[in-house]
Amino acid sequence: MSAHIYPIFDTLLQKEDKEKVLKQKACVIWMVGLSGSGKSTLARALENTLHEKGYLTQLLDGDNLRTGINNNLGFSEEDRIENIRRAAETSKLFANCGIVTICSLISPTEQIRSMAKEIIGEEDYFEVFISCPIEVCEQRDVKGLYAKARKGEIKHFTGIDSPFEEPQNPSLIIETDKDELSVSHQKLVDAVLEKIKYT
Ligand code: PPS
Repeated sequence: MSAHIYPIFDTLLQKEDKEKVLKQKACVIWMVGLSGSGKSTLARALENTLHEKGYLTQLLDGDNLRTGINNNLGFSEEDRIENIRRAAETSKLFANCGIVTICSLISPTEQIRSMAKEIIGEEDYFEVFISCPIEVCEQRDVKGLYAKARKGEIKHFTGIDSPFEEPQNPSLIIETDKDELSVSHQKLVDAVLEKIKYT
């Protein structure tokens, strides 16, 4: 941090004041998984369900962030770290407004996820591993990216020529190769509702 920056940490209004207005507990649902694992689909479905139930939410999706705040970043290790750092800082701002923030980013390494957790704060960070074997993701290949990566047309593709480390201690694991979408969705909704319940 620069020697001439003076951040204000003792603002009068705290996260708890905003949660009280919204009658919800804020947190950041950090959804981790390979491309094609079902992160974005589940994140969107989760947001819709919470919205219908009256919760204020914000969805931050890797692909979308990369068209805006992260549009100068690629997929090198360094750029992915910066991508996640910005996403985590942004989520923290939303969570501090009392908003249930849903993040859907590959977040491929333990180092990257630890950084996100540290930025957001352990209490507010809820990690969900959207688990699906790479063979299944590749078979789905909804965006045709695996085929391009195999042909060498995309470099540093996660799981092909860029690492993906499975989360060691996520709060929740959703197995999209085993469960129907509706079952995965319900498991996710149940766990999140428990986390954001205002008491
Ligand atoms: S990361 O690793 O967390 O920084 O990635 P993220 O910001 O979530 O971006 C992933 C989406 O970018 C598209 N894409 C790639 N993914 C992985 N590797 C490479 N090289 C790559 N190039 C483009 C892809 O659409 C990812 O979206 P999802 O939703 O994961 O399929």
